[in-house]
Amino acid sequence: MFSRVVSLMVCMLAGAAAFMAPSVTVRSVSRPTNSLSMADVTFPGGKKTKANGGAPLKTVAQKAGYKAAYGCEEGKCGTCEHKVNGKKIRLCIGKLPAGAGPFTFTQ
Ligand code: FES
Repeated sequence: MFSRVVSLMVCMLAGAAAFMAPSVTVRSVSRPTNSLSMADVTFPGGKKTKANGGAPLKTVAQKAGYKAAYGCEEGKCGTCEHKVNGKKIRLCIGKLPAGAGPFTFTQ
């Protein structure tokens, strides 16, 4: 009797093992580092966003919700001129400087 119970248990365990899901190997997926290397950018009025170095300033300002005044939009009139970390730059033609920032724009 005891041997029948043991053999029954062995069969049940073997059957259960057959229905177990195969092991799955999960590999880590590398993520682009762009989102991690974006610099903090602040415009007048406290409008903030994050952007990569080299991004067109007009686009960065729009992304932040900052409404700058523009005139010629060709870099000639100076209407859109701001200072970024103390250095003059024209939003219509300028690009965000390279680097980790943060970048603070003032008029
Ligand atoms: S709008 Fe004229 S220099 Fe930018």
